[in-house]
Amino acid sequence: LPCQTIPETLRDRFSGVSTRIPLLHGEDAIYINFDNAASTPPLHAVQSGVDRFVEYYASVHRGTGFKSQLSTWAYETARAATLRFVDADPAERTCIFVKNSTEAINKLAHRLNLEPDDVILTTVMEHHSNDLPFRAVAETVHIDVCPDGSLDEDDFDRKLTQYSDRVRLVSISGASNVTGFLNPVRRLAAKSHAAGAYFMVDSAQLAPHRTIHIGALDEPDHFDFIALSAHKMYAPYGTGALIGRTDVFSHGDPDLRGGGTVDIVTLDDVVWADTPERDEAGSPNVVGAVALALAIRELTEIGMDVVAQHETELTAYALETLSQVPDVHIFGDTNPTRAHERLGVIPFLLEGKSHFLVSAILGYEFGIGVRAGCFCAHPYLLRLLDVDTEAARRVREKMVAGDRRDIPGLIRISFGLYNTTEEIDRLAQALEAIQRGDYQGRYTQDASSGEYRPEGWAPDFNSYFPLA
Ligand SMILES: Cc1ncc(COP(=O)(O)O)c(C=O)c1O
Repeated sequence: LPCQTIPETLRDRFSGVSTRIPLLHGEDAIYINFDNAASTPPLHAVQSGVDRFVEYYASVHRGTGFKSQLSTWAYETARAATLRFVDADPAERTCIFVKNSTEAINKLAHRLNLEPDDVILTTVMEHHSNDLPFRAVAETVHIDVCPDGSLDEDDFDRKLTQYSDRVRLVSISGASNVTGFLNPVRRLAAKSHAAGAYFMVDSAQLAPHRTIHIGALDEPDHFDFIALSAHKMYAPYGTGALIGRTDVFSHGDPDLRGGGTVDIVTLDDVVWADTPERDEAGSPNVVGAVALALAIRELTEIGMDVVAQHETELTAYALETLSQVPDVHIFGDTNPTRAHERLGVIPFLLEGKSHFLVSAILGYEFGIGVRAGCFCAHPYLLRLLDVDTEAARRVREKMVAGDRRDIPGLIRISFGLYNTTEEIDRLAQALEAIQRGDYQGRYTQDASSGEYRPEGWAPDFNSYFPLA
């Protein structure tokens, strides 16, 4: 399918994609959202489905009225849909609803009952959420990346062998939130299992863009655990999921204790409920779970192959277009013919201009939302930008002193299913204008955040969405 024909039908399925927003010079423009790796707008089907559902909403589990029973049914149906989405067999897998991938990974780190000298293997390219939770519970060892930012599989093999008697878990992102690199997770899973370790795929980035097959436990290349976030899958209602081995979740204490997690409590004893109840303390986010199930239904109807194809075409187009903009330096894989081997997440710099400044001008003067900085992946950014230890130490010192002006970083665009090639053209034109100095505002940098703001103007958010 040629790129232009897909978005017309796909774009109509999303809320908020035609919203006009104010620009610095008094005009307005239809907002371009190129920050989908951070969070996505809702599909109409999700938004309207949630609106219908709240008419029936009541607290789940043990409520005896019709609404409570319907809500319980909807919550458990959403759980089954989430398992089906990753092709998980409910006989051996459980879906635990959490609020996002970060909570999912923290929960797993706790639920593995690790000892301090157990080893978790993760990588230099991870989002902090797939790194810091492990550092708190075990020795965490980082597999290196190659100079272009792709995983160094030789280092993976070396470290897996070196720590083989102590590695309990290998946890790797299915796709990088910085470079969009797809990791060879099936192959890495098989190697990890051969070394006696569990294998977890941080699927925060992968799940919205590719089919995931978790695999049966007797398949050598299955995934033991998966984490995902619904707000990156066009269902921004506060839910995520940890999907994994029921046999593991069936042992050990819950990380959070309280209502819903128990079978019976006496003053001196507690019998924990079976998973997933044991792992979902307190009243769950039923609306969020329903929203995720609605998004899954819509994505499945569209077809994950169509999703992947459209985003591949956008990525190839963007790589080609941006490479023709003077002084744009793209990081990671820059080859458009390999766009099908990565996600539509493209980090770049405009030579000679601060990433903070360029991203501010794009937002204030061109209505284009991007992200700038380190994308919660500091070690990876330092590697991509080739910042040596001494320079990193100086930056750290200034940051600790409250001055973030010189933080190294990149600008990132990341595509969603509703983005179009026309939007990429608008970005390219904007970058060319910025590079020519063809922008109107005078920008000053805020030392504590590093962000640039135009002098003498700030949007009045309350007039767009009255809340105050
Ligand atoms: C690869 C990766 N893992 C984990 C996370 C954390 O996701 P969340 O913020 O939804 O917890 C993100 C968020 O951007 C991510 O990109």
